[in-house]
Amino acid sequence: MSPLSVAALVGAFPVEFPAAIVYNSPVEKIRIQGRNDFQLKGGVRIGGSKNAVLPALAASLLTGEKVHLSNIPLVKDVFSMLKLMKELGLDYHLEGTNLTLEVPKILSEEASYNLVKVMRASFLVLGPLLARFGKAIVAQPGGCAIGLRPVDLHLAGLQRLGANITLEHGYIKAEADRLQGADIRFEKKTVGGTEHLIMAATLARGETILRNCAQEPEISNLCELLIKMGAKIEGVGEETVRIVGVDALGGADHEIIPDRIEAGTFLVAGALTHGDIRLTGTEPSHIMTTIEKLRYSGATIDIDGKTLHVVGSAEIRPQDVTTSPYPGFPTDMQAQFMVLMTQATGTSIITETIFDRRFQHVNELLRLGAAIEVLGDKAVVHGRTPLSGAEVIATDLRASASLILAGLIASGETIVNDVEHIDRGYERIEEKLRALGARIERFRD
Ligand code: EPZ
Repeated sequence: MSPLSVAALVGAFPVEFPAAIVYNSPVEKIRIQGRNDFQLKGGVRIGGSKNAVLPALAASLLTGEKVHLSNIPLVKDVFSMLKLMKELGLDYHLEGTNLTLEVPKILSEEASYNLVKVMRASFLVLGPLLARFGKAIVAQPGGCAIGLRPVDLHLAGLQRLGANITLEHGYIKAEADRLQGADIRFEKKTVGGTEHLIMAATLARGETILRNCAQEPEISNLCELLIKMGAKIEGVGEETVRIVGVDALGGADHEIIPDRIEAGTFLVAGALTHGDIRLTGTEPSHIMTTIEKLRYSGATIDIDGKTLHVVGSAEIRPQDVTTSPYPGFPTDMQAQFMVLMTQATGTSIITETIFDRRFQHVNELLRLGAAIEVLGDKAVVHGRTPLSGAEVIATDLRASASLILAGLIASGETIVNDVEHIDRGYERIEEKLRALGARIERFRD
């Protein structure tokens, strides 16, 4: 069987968008007219989780039967992944936020570095291709704005499952007649590595035990999908996960969990603007650490089933935060929380323990008038500093969100460049904020 590989795509510009969604070209920007005393008020519906749907898409490669996913977020990364997998042989039908996937056969083409670099989660297709077809070739993901982001733990685990892995010219070639179960301990907690090995182990011969697994809700959501497909998995959501391989997996119907980081972002928006926002379609149990931190900072957050009601306080109390693996404070909320701390009455220390370069937003916040010093893995945030509008540039997804939040309370006009980052993980963020009263628009230069 010829080497199977992830399709080549140069420039992951999404295609086949629903007509209503026209994502930006690189020259698109977001303009915000902010005020220091601005308040967001109203309701917002939170979409499905980007970080849950991407591994679920990769998991659909494990079967030739139909997989139905609901509550899909219509964000750029999803369309990039679908385009990549379409080149693999994926047939899909998207209707609203309901997606039907089928991979009856596989074409073979080679992964493109340009694509995997832009959308690193596409690397997760390697394990499913290898597990189902015995061979796969995928470009090795590069680093990105928030850090080196190696995949050594993924590859070491696949080798322990019996894969023969070679690296040449920036491409990873993996082969195995059939993967063999093993007892594997992750050296450090890795969300993608845990997802990758669980998927590969579902079709391996015998039992696999994975130790020191990451425990993010997105991993549990993936496991629930795999179990519906016929996988034998115990320890869902725990540090030790046991998988007994089966010969084949079938189709399934599955709902993607709400995006806990989108929810956290809007909770911060409510706290930051002394606002009053109702978030519907959330899963509060997935963001309790963020909720508690916001409550300590003075915000009132009431939980009513899938609805979160946040009311910001006039005085924001400084809070020290250290990011850590779930259920700790999420690294994906660090930039957004930093903006809130610029308005706190005192000094806060934010420690980033997950990524080695996730303070790219600090320089841009300084341009808006924030008072922040970076000392190694710590950012010392002095509040309260009234912000004033300026032109800023987004470097990564969550940094983009933090700059938009800052623009809401910066007096005057803020222009956020490179908004293609924000569209990767937030669906129509300017429309959702405008519906809450923000003076925000997307425009082309
Ligand atoms: C996932 O990335 C998320 N992405 C990230 O969200 C999130 O920030 C991250 O988990 C941590 O929670 C998706 O789920 C698509 P890791 P992932 O493997 O899986 C190191 C967003 O904004 N590491 O848990 O790539 C790595 O460098 C994105 O939505 C290795 O050293 O993260 C990092 O320092 C940003 N070797 C740490 O582990 C490896 O083989 C955690 O990375 C793998 C990871």
